[in-house]
Order: sequence, then structure tokens, then C-alpha cells
Amino acid sequence: MDYSAQIQEAQKKFGEVLTEQLKRVEKMKAEKDFIDYKSLDKIVIGVVGGDGIGPAITAQAERILKYLLKDEMARGKVEFKEITGCTIEHRAEVGKALPDDVTEELKQCHVILKGPTTTPRQGDPWPNIESANVAMRKELDLFANVRPVRVPEEGIDWTFYRENTEGGYAVGSKGINVTDDLAIDFVVQTHEGTERIARAAFEYAKKAGKTRVTCVTKANVIKTTDGNFLSVCKEVAKDYPDIELDDWYIDIMTAKLVDPKRRTQFQVLVLPNLYGDILTDEAAEFQGGVGTAGSANIGKRYAMFEAIHGSAPRMVQEGRDIYADPCSIIRASVMLLEHIGYADKAKALEEALDICMYKEKKLTITGRDTGATSAEFADYVMSKL
Ligand code: IPM
Ligand code: MG
Repeated sequence: MDYSAQIQEAQKKFGEVLTEQLKRVEKMKAEKDFIDYKSLDKIVIGVVGGDGIGPAITAQAERILKYLLKDEMARGKVEFKEITGCTIEHRAEVGKALPDDVTEELKQCHVILKGPTTTPRQGDPWPNIESANVAMRKELDLFANVRPVRVPEEGIDWTFYRENTEGGYAVGSKGINVTDDLAIDFVVQTHEGTERIARAAFEYAKKAGKTRVTCVTKANVIKTTDGNFLSVCKEVAKDYPDIELDDWYIDIMTAKLVDPKRRTQFQVLVLPNLYGDILTDEAAEFQGGVGTAGSANIGKRYAMFEAIHGSAPRMVQEGRDIYADPCSIIRASVMLLEHIGYADKAKALEEALDICMYKEKKLTITGRDTGATSAEFADYVMSKL
């Protein structure tokens, strides 16, 4: 068989991927430092409801944020901006993961609170466009996906720093079907990309008084990209002599998270995109599932805070969206407040949420009319502030 035409076509596509990624490297090199929210006259918080149960739960988190920030809003220091176009219907209609009008509106904000958005896959009624999450992370260069998991009574206190713009996700929708039998996807790792996530993890560890950062890869097998990820982490670690860096492989790490003796030793974990995606779902399960966890996507100019669960379209079809659990998006709101410099309000909200979810538990959310509505739960949280 002569495959030269197919190989040439694939090489052309590969060349395009390389050009695009090298441009990205140049952009990272030219990047400015983190934005300073204190120096801003006004902080604009964008609110993206998303799909399915998204608008219902996001509205409740927004209500709580507005309650906590009412003085700042009155003074003009904080402004909310609703962004309504990030729905699967609109994305499908324009055939883009992030419609241009949505991108433009996002860029008028400093931080974004985001509900879940539907990610189409092969066989869905929707066109198989890229995930809106992934597109937003790339478009706004939100390179650090920060996911805390805490179960105090079991000694679990983990903060995951998942690299958010590279790995298998960087060009996840641009793999190549070379022939009917051969398909190739790409995994991207850059020096700049790894350095900034490693530094973010170590800086956090230093500020939070942590003593260990754990790098998770599969560098024994994926020798180039994971190998480089690990060696850049080791380089960065030299700037933090008081913090120990240890290195684990993803397979044994998924096992050790289940080991009650070992797991309490992990503190801050830094890892490539896909391992971070998988491990943070496992980790959140100890805390009560992904529905209980918040997620911050942080870049130097923008940051986005989201619920980490899906959009649950069936709940909407069955008219149950008013009973959807707002805990994950409220956790995300805690991280948002902390990020823009309102640490006291963040702490107050976190404590109120802990009382409602774990300590007092006067209301329960069951996802149907046997439990509280999202609005009732939000009222309950606000009554504890
Ligand atoms: C997450 C989600 C996303 C991801 C999906 C929805 C694309 O699983 O935020 O962890 O894989 O990053
Ligand atoms: Mg995930």
C-alpha cells in the first residue's frame, strides 16, 4: 500500500498544530504578571449560567454573592454582568465552543462565575464541538485549575494544581485520522506552561504554610512530555528550599488516595491536565462527590470559578431543576471571593456552607421534591452568615 498522500496530509495538519503551539509559547513568554485586584477601580464579575441545571444553581450562588458584596456594589467597586449566550443551543447554532459574542463579553470581566455547560460527544444530537470549559480555559489562558478537597475528620486536606491548558487538552479536538485504521492525538507540554503551574503550586504551598508538593505524572512511560513536566517541577522546587517535592506516578497515586494511612500525607499536588481531571474526581468523592467541590481556573489576567459537576439535562426535562444542588457553585463562589481579595467574606461563606452541608444539616437536597429547593438552601446558607 502507498500511504504517501495520507502521510503528507497528516504532516500538513501536524505542521499547523506546531505553528499554533509555538505561537502560544511566544505569547506565554511575553505574558505580564498577575492582575492586582486591589488596584482596580471596579471589579467586574461575569455570571455565566450555562446549560441544564446551570442557570438555576448559578442564580442562587449569585444571590449569595450579591448579599455579601452589597456595600461594594453600592460603592461601585464591584459590578455583576450577566452573560446569557453560553448555552449548548447557541453554541451548536454558531458551531463554536465559545461563540464570539460570548468571548467578547467574557473579556469585559475580571472574574467569571460559571455554571456547568454541556460537552457534546460523538453520537449526541449536538454537533461534536469542543467543550466550552476547555475553550474558555484556553481563550482566557486560565492555566491553573485549583481544586481543594477537605475532610477534616479524616485528616484530608489536599489542594490540586492541575495544569489546565496543555497536555491532551491543548489540541484535543485536532487529532488526526491518518487512515481509516490509524488515528493520532497530540499531547502538548511546554517549558513555560509547566513552569507557571509549578510556580503557582509552590507559591500557594509557601503562603499556606505547607511543607510538601507532590508531582504526579507517568514519566516512566510517557517519557518526553511527562518527563519534562517532572524535571521542570524539580527545577522550580529549587527556589523553595523549605518545601519538599516528591514525585509519584498516576497509577499508584490513584491507589494511595484510597489508603487511609498514606493519603493524609499529601498536601499540594501538581499534575498535567488529564491526570488532574481524573484524580480530582476521585479525590472529591471522599468529600461527598463532585457535587460538593468547587473549582478555580486561574490565569494572570482572568479567572473563572465553576461547579465541577455536569449540567444534568434530565433534571430540567423532568422539571426538577429547582431542586438541583447548588453546593458546588457556592464552593466556587468562596474561591472567587478569596481570589479577588475578600478573604473574610470567603471564610464566612465557607463556614456557613460547612454548617449547612456537614454540621447542622437542617435541610437536605435530594434533587427532587422530597428535599429542599436550591433557593431554600441558599436562604439557609445566608441565614448563617
Ligand atoms: C472538569 C470536566 C471537564 C474537563 C470537561 C467537562 C471537559 O471534567 O472540569 O474536570 O475534562 O476538564
Ligand atoms: Mg473532570
